[in-house]
Amino acid sequence: MKRFDFLVLGSGIAGLSYALKVAPRGRVAIVTKKNSAESNTNYAQGGIAAVTSKEDSFELHVRDTLEAGAGLCKEAVVRQIVAEGPARIAELIALGMNFSERDDPANGRRVLDLGKEGGHSKRRILHAKDVTGREIERALLAAIAAQPNIKIFENHLAIDLITSQKLGYVGANSCLGAYVFDKKSGTVETFAAPVTLLATGGCGKVYLYTTNPDIATGDGVAMAYRAGAAVADMEFIQFHPTCLFHPKAKSFLISEAVRGEGGVLKTTESREFMDAYHPLKSLAPRDIVARAIDTEMKKSGADCVLLDITHKPAKFIIERFPNIYQTCLGFGIDITREPIPVVPAAHYQCGGVVTSVDGETDIAGLYAVGEVACTGLHGANRLASNSLLEAVVVAHRAAEKISNLKSQIPDYQIPDWQSGDAHNPDEMVVVAHNWDEIRRLMWDYVGIVRTNKRLQRAQARLANLQLEIQEYYWDFTVNSDLLELRNIATVAEIIVASALQRPESRGLNYNLDYPAANPEWAQRDTVLRKSS
Ligand code: FAD
Ligand code: SIN
Repeated sequence: MKRFDFLVLGSGIAGLSYALKVAPRGRVAIVTKKNSAESNTNYAQGGIAAVTSKEDSFELHVRDTLEAGAGLCKEAVVRQIVAEGPARIAELIALGMNFSERDDPANGRRVLDLGKEGGHSKRRILHAKDVTGREIERALLAAIAAQPNIKIFENHLAIDLITSQKLGYVGANSCLGAYVFDKKSGTVETFAAPVTLLATGGCGKVYLYTTNPDIATGDGVAMAYRAGAAVADMEFIQFHPTCLFHPKAKSFLISEAVRGEGGVLKTTESREFMDAYHPLKSLAPRDIVARAIDTEMKKSGADCVLLDITHKPAKFIIERFPNIYQTCLGFGIDITREPIPVVPAAHYQCGGVVTSVDGETDIAGLYAVGEVACTGLHGANRLASNSLLEAVVVAHRAAEKISNLKSQIPDYQIPDWQSGDAHNPDEMVVVAHNWDEIRRLMWDYVGIVRTNKRLQRAQARLANLQLEIQEYYWDFTVNSDLLELRNIATVAEIIVASALQRPESRGLNYNLDYPAANPEWAQRDTVLRKSS
């Protein structure tokens, strides 16, 4: 058994920021399922939203967040997170994070270059050109490397949380650590700690088309749900309007910042269409833009729409969006001369494990921060670039909160992982088939536009698939594909059950059977908890 003072599951912005903050107080293990940098964070393009300019104000950032959230945000949480943004940004800069700057003609100095994205009334997005996430991971991992108290376990996949209830102890449910699969040795290790942080990110891979990398299989939500934690608002899956449409491109995002710098959405016949949907046109909130694109594609039968920024100088485009420019060029698209074919794709999980603004879950000793968590900041639709902001602010608050926790959890006995008489699965084709089936059915039946009938159909199919997966899980030795399949199936079921619970269209949950918002549901979360 490996014993630490703090166990951190995940090495994106949430896990790394928190680990750095708690390291002076004890030994920290960071468990991460691929290499340290591999995370949704690493692919973030647009940047971090925070109020740093004189033209902006907390009030405006709060207003934009509430408006995008379509009435469901928790206003007190929004205010706290927005207000603490600038302090956390200053810390990132002090840590060595290089945000893009520009010359300020007013005083001849260099100032932060602020980008603009959908739903923001001001320029307030701090960015590192169009590779903000890569720069965040670089800066945080460099700081972690200098911390002797932190040990990173790469290629280690957390299977399940260890809780006092699961071990049969009576009384309040406490988290005692996690069982972790070492992908290299194929063995399962026990990590014990009085404080565990879930920072495992989102669940884009539940859908066939996504902007997310392969790590995003909803493991944290599935683990927390199995452990008995409350999970909320999972029907609100955000579809990013502009993912590159190309047969060879896997999950490549075209940042909303491209529209922020003047990019315009057009049909494949070169007709601008967003003015028919929202006064902010191509820069309307994401739920509206994604639905508009979906409608236009269905109307015309086209496979994609176009994002056109060719009217901007080529030098500006190449300097501001070097990664997007180079990647598209690699696929034969010169974005300075031709429009970019784009489609919506699953991007962000607005709901998650229910937490306070300090990251506390309802299981003692278990915290959740970042995309895995639901603090109430995003409501029914996240405002662009508020995710990285939420992760750094809540990671800081969680680290501040835990100082006395060690003494609160009794010293329970933790048994080793039991694999029984399991043997290797010889039919991995079944696992691969179930992966594909879940992702396709979620795309077809639980996508941008939903109906009760399609949701019910998805629910029935998922229940059957779950039976098959459970049988596999208990019969065979575990492996990464099977563990992730089990998690995407659980998360898919949670998304469908949540969508069926909400009898209205609000934000990202658009259901043709209830095309309008229902005021009675304006501040109601859909909360699910596994019955024990
Ligand atoms: P992640 O960064 O996803 O990290 C999760 C970590 O957990 C990873 O290290 C992963 O390997 C690990 N993990 C997962 N499951 C397990 C397991 N079972 N065991 C062990 N480890 C596990 N948001 C913004 O605010 N601004 C942007 O500009 C922006 N751009 C984006 C662009 C793209 C292409 C994508 C996909 C997302 C973007 N987002 C953006 C969203 C944002 O990047 C994420 O919401 C945020 O980075 C999540 O951070 P996190 O630390 O919670 O999770
Ligand atoms: C983007 O760059 O468009 C992504 C921003 C975000 O998801 O917040």
